[in-house]
Amino acid sequence: MKALAWHGTGDVRVDNVPDPRIEQPTDAIVRITSTAICGSDLHLYDVLGPFLEEGDILGHEPMGIVEEVGSEAAAHVQVGDRVVIPFNISCGRCFMCDRQRFAQCETTQVREYDTGAALFGYTKLYGQVPGGQAEYLRVPMAHFGPIRVPEGPPDERFLYLSDVLPTSWQAVEYADIPDGGSVTVFGLGPIGQMSSRIAKHRGARVLAVDLVPERLEVARRHGIEVLDLRDHDDVPAEIRERTDGRGTDSVIDAVGLEAHGNPIAAMAQRLVGLLPDAAARKVMQTAGIDRLAALTQSIETVCRGGTISIIGVYGGTADPLNMLQLFDKGVKIAMGQAHVKRWVDDLMPLLSGDGDPLGVEDLCTHRLPLADAPRGYELFKNKEDGAIKVVLQP
Ligand SMILES: NC(=O)c1ccc[n+]([C@@H]2O[C@H](COP(=O)([O-])OP(=O)(O)OC[C@H]3O[C@@H](n4cnc5c(N)ncnc54)[C@H](O)[C@@H]3O)[C@@H](O)[C@H]2O)c1
Ligand SMILES: [Zn+2]
Ligand SMILES: [Zn+2]
Repeated sequence: MKALAWHGTGDVRVDNVPDPRIEQPTDAIVRITSTAICGSDLHLYDVLGPFLEEGDILGHEPMGIVEEVGSEAAAHVQVGDRVVIPFNISCGRCFMCDRQRFAQCETTQVREYDTGAALFGYTKLYGQVPGGQAEYLRVPMAHFGPIRVPEGPPDERFLYLSDVLPTSWQAVEYADIPDGGSVTVFGLGPIGQMSSRIAKHRGARVLAVDLVPERLEVARRHGIEVLDLRDHDDVPAEIRERTDGRGTDSVIDAVGLEAHGNPIAAMAQRLVGLLPDAAARKVMQTAGIDRLAALTQSIETVCRGGTISIIGVYGGTADPLNMLQLFDKGVKIAMGQAHVKRWVDDLMPLLSGDGDPLGVEDLCTHRLPLADAPRGYELFKNKEDGAIKVVLQP
């Protein structure tokens, strides 16, 4: 089959690789019909190279049709089912899964690196499981993971259940916005766009910050109050000005470790990328390599006693944080990988009706054949041609 494989920093290619096969009775094989590129894939493309091996298949936002089912998965999925595959691989029956902490599943946790549940297409840190930017995908834990969706509507109606929608839903839940309250969303990539729309749908006043004109424009079109980072020297001060001097009740950081505006950390990330893998892994696991601009601004923006929800990915162990301000303001912080399946029941009614209240069919800007995936990565990374979400169609 054809699959998108990592070959080095900034180098992904569509290769011919062996078809996946059932390996465990809990496996299923899915023929992929749509599979998206995520901001998290860009970290692999740029920063996380030391944790990848040449030939690793990327992708964790796939959906498709079940082609083959292992004996123990048969009670959950059947050949021919239309399914969306959550990005985290969870067993559904361990201590963590019983508590709906699916991103921490104890059956698939990667103990070698002391990390949470295995993820599709996501480095040795998360199990090095072949990903879904491919014609076929082996789905482990298929007795629990796959989300069955109805026939009829186009793939894009359901595709984002794999990651973007549950992640954004969790971002809003964790933001704990009081009734009639306000939230600032930093970053208007797919996650920031959907977090903004969900918060608005749930009744909040939503302000959002980015520096890419097309992304600001899409958010504005969905009724979000937008601020262009480039127009304001002091974004938190501007937001306080617009909120009676207090800042918003809650803040969602949907940017993560590659934030714009940290030249020194950006250089450190590049230098780490030039080290031999073993040395780079060591540095990345012991140093503060994150660019903290968005998180720093989140701390300054949140109202006293408010909540910061960090949904963008961070990875440094020695990142300097403004503890004085965090403690003095009495800020609550919640963060982590999305527990995808936990939020599916909340989302499904918003996807299944006639309308499209979250505008899920107004997020994808580029649909490309799998063969053009390398161009898709470049478009998305450089935010060229108004790219916001790129969907590949094998
Ligand atoms: N926690 C999870 O489970 C989970 C799941 C999916 C994605 N993510 C993470 O969420 C983040 C966003 O993902 P995405 O797909 O939307 O990616 P993206 O790269 O398209 O979006 C990031 C956006 O932030 C903007 N930005 C950069 N610096 C900024 C700054 N200083 N202030 C304001 N905006 C800034 C960029 O212009 C861009 O539009 C990534 O870190 C991704 O890894 C987390
Ligand atoms: Zn993703
Ligand atoms: Zn589990």
